[in-house]
Amino acid sequence: MKALEVKPNIYWVGGIDWDIRSFHGYVTQRGTTYNAYLIMDEKVTLIDTVKSYMVPEMLERIRDIIDPSKIDYIISNHVEMDHSGGLPAMKEIASNAEVFTSVQGEKGLKKHYKDELNLHVVKTGDTLELGKHTLHFVQVPMVHWPDSMVSYCPETKLLFSNDAFGQHIASAERFDDQLEWGIIHEEAAKYYANIVTPFGDQVKKALEAVGKLEIEMICPSHGIIWRTGIADIIDEYKKWSNYESDKRAVIVYDSMWGSTKQIAYALYEGLESVGIPVSIRDLKSSHISDIITDVHFSKAVLVGSPTLNRGMLPTMAAFLNYFKGLKFRNRIGYAFGSYGWSGESVEDMEKEMEAAGVELFESGEKIQYRPGEEDLLKFKETGKKMGESL
Ligand code: FEO
Repeated sequence: MKALEVKPNIYWVGGIDWDIRSFHGYVTQRGTTYNAYLIMDEKVTLIDTVKSYMVPEMLERIRDIIDPSKIDYIISNHVEMDHSGGLPAMKEIASNAEVFTSVQGEKGLKKHYKDELNLHVVKTGDTLELGKHTLHFVQVPMVHWPDSMVSYCPETKLLFSNDAFGQHIASAERFDDQLEWGIIHEEAAKYYANIVTPFGDQVKKALEAVGKLEIEMICPSHGIIWRTGIADIIDEYKKWSNYESDKRAVIVYDSMWGSTKQIAYALYEGLESVGIPVSIRDLKSSHISDIITDVHFSKAVLVGSPTLNRGMLPTMAAFLNYFKGLKFRNRIGYAFGSYGWSGESVEDMEKEMEAAGVELFESGEKIQYRPGEEDLLKFKETGKKMGESL
């Protein structure tokens, strides 16, 4: 396996995980990569590693350039094991290598790996001379772990951004101008929506810090390297960190015997009648990590579940629990559902939506057993009103 030179003397030496389909519950239909980078200089430097099972692939790519035992420095921008999993193996191979990480990184790495990793702590503003290259460190706490850090090389104007600006894409292409923007944008948005959303304020601070840098290339730790659409993805991150959304709606529902589904489609018709693009997602067939991408782009979030065992369906409970944890802002919501005799689901969903920070457009509606023609017209009207309010 080959290394790829991304700038003179700087190589991508990561691993391509073609087969992964679940990243701790996030569905990765396109697989992913763990991007490590090798800087060839007086001090041979490895930026991040890969997941432990991808270490042989990373080593093969490093060997394409140099004997891995000759690595002097390893930068650990982030403790999470998809980037630090290769550290113990690298320390065995390059036993004299020094590891540089943030304050929280040191704590995290010591907890994760009992081995002696020869750690050095760096903070924002610290620099490391490699020879012809220098690395400047910028801590970006909570983007998306407390230890998160990015490294910048001013001589090449290259930002090693770790998880920021990443996307879960396994592909033969390494650069953003080699793959369709639509694919990269969708995966970057899904990544942001599912992983970074709770930390909008911290993302703003990180954008401020990196905004001062002259950047010619962003090398994230997942997916495609940005060299053409840098301004585009930074603009998107600015928008996303402000919790901006489009005049769109997503209807998320599950149904037992089709009544809640009928209501979902009546609301859909109402929204559509006033020109609002709508995604309609049955929880039985769509994964919550994909639905969250729709939520990311949608101002309106409508949720529907019948009542089962004095509550909402477990699929909806799981979705709302996940949604609540992501702490979206600036969303409006509406709850609906059918019931047989007790009918708690709508109120329960409303409580969850409010706990998620969603402003309810109006009180939700529940229908006993099956909606009639008049009921459906009423829901269509609600959809229309909600659409007009957008
Ligand atoms: Fe890609 Fe937070 O690890």
